[in-house]
Amino acid sequence: MRLDLNNKTILITGVAGFIGSNLAIRLIHSSDNIKLIGIDNMNDYYDIKLKESRLKELGDFKNFTFIKGSISDKLLIKKIFADFIPDIVVNLAAQAGVRYSITNPDVYIDSNLIGFFNILEACRHSYDDGKKGVEHLVYASSSSVYGSNKKIPYSTNDRVDNPVSLYAATKKSNELTAHAYSKLYGIPSTGLRFFTVYGPAGRPDMAYFGFTNKMVKGEKIQIFNYGNLYRDFTYIDDIVSGIIKVIQKTPEFTDDGVPYHVYNIGNNKPVSLMYFVETLENCLLEEGIISVRPEKELLPMQPGDVYQTYADVDELIKDFGFKPETSIEEGLRRFAKWYRGYYMQDSQIQGENNEIKST
Ligand SMILES: NC(=O)c1ccc[n+]([C@@H]2O[C@H](COP(=O)([O-])OP(=O)(O)OC[C@H]3O[C@@H](n4cnc5c(N)ncnc54)[C@H](O)[C@@H]3O)[C@@H](O)[C@H]2O)c1
Repeated sequence: MRLDLNNKTILITGVAGFIGSNLAIRLIHSSDNIKLIGIDNMNDYYDIKLKESRLKELGDFKNFTFIKGSISDKLLIKKIFADFIPDIVVNLAAQAGVRYSITNPDVYIDSNLIGFFNILEACRHSYDDGKKGVEHLVYASSSSVYGSNKKIPYSTNDRVDNPVSLYAATKKSNELTAHAYSKLYGIPSTGLRFFTVYGPAGRPDMAYFGFTNKMVKGEKIQIFNYGNLYRDFTYIDDIVSGIIKVIQKTPEFTDDGVPYHVYNIGNNKPVSLMYFVETLENCLLEEGIISVRPEKELLPMQPGDVYQTYADVDELIKDFGFKPETSIEEGLRRFAKWYRGYYMQDSQIQGENNEIKST
C-alpha cells in the first residue's frame, strides 16, 4: 500500500547519525507537512561534535523535535510513542561497526537487540484499543549479515544463518524478531540491508574517513588482506533516496500472510579497496588536502571482516524502480570537498601545519 508522507509523523531513531541526519534533512526539505521526531543517545563511539553539527542543521526546522535518550530505555520509548503517536518509524539507531563488536560486545546487545525489541513492542502496542497505530516500520539491517557468503551478488534469497561477527548476528536477529512481530501483530515492516555507506559528514570510524585523517597527518595507512577486499560502496544520497522510496510503500504480504520484506540497498558495483584508496587519494590531492600519496602498509585479513560485499538489487528495482547510481569518483569528490570545508582552514592546506582542527 502507498503511504502519502504529507501530514505524517515520522520517528527516526539514530537521528544524529550519518544516515539518520541525512534522511531527516531530506524529509524536512521535501514537505512542510511532515512532523519529524528524532531520538539519539549521542554516544561517543566517534566524535560527538560531528553528531552535534549534524543536529544543528536540523535545529532550525519548526517541524523537528529532538529527544536525547536511548532506545534501550523502554519507558522513554513508550512515552515517545504515547506523546507523538508516530505513523512511520525508521529505526537507524544501533551500535555499528564490525571490529568494535569484538572489544565492546555489551553495547550491541543493549542498543541493537534490547533497543530494537523496545521499538517493536512500542509498534505492537500502538494498535491497542483499535488505534490506527504505526503504518510502517522501516529498520536498518546490514550487508554484514551475508558473512562469508560465497555466492555473488548477495541476494536476500540467500541463506544468512552464519554470521561472522556479533554485529552481524544482531542485525540478522533484528530481521527475525521483526518477522515474528509482523506475523503476530500485523506490523508492516521492511528491513534494509545497507552496503558500506560513505559520503560527506560520514562516520569517522569507517576506513575512507580514517585513511583521510591519517593521510592528512602524513601517517601511513594500513590496508587489510593486502588490499584484496571488494566493497559495494554506496553513496549516502542514494541510501536516503532508497529509504524515502521504501517508507512510502508498505510491504506486500508474504505467502504466509506476513506484511514483511527485506531489501538490499547497495551500489551493485563492488570495487577493490586499492582502487577505492587510489580514488580517494586523487580527490584529496585535487582538493589540496594532501600533497603527497601516503605510504601503505599491507596486512593480513582482520577477524570478522569479509572478503567481498556485492548487492543484488533486482528486487529494489522491481518494487521501486530504483537503484543507487552515484559513482565512487563522484561520491569521494564530494566527501573531499566536505572534509576540506569542515576540518581545514585554507592556511592549513598544503602547508607545513597539516593538522586536523579539533572541531
Ligand atoms: N553506514 C554504513 O555503512 C552502514 C552499513 C550497514 C548498516 N548500517 C546501519 O545503518 C544504521 C545507521 O548507521 P550510520 O552509519 O548512520 O551510523 P551512526 O553511528 O552514524 O548512526 C547511529 C546513531 O545511532 C545513535 N545510537 C546508537 N545507539 C543508540 C541507542 N541505544 N539509542 C539511541 N541512539 C543510539 C548513535 O549515537 C548514532 O548517532 C545503523 O543501524 C547501522 O548499523 C550502516
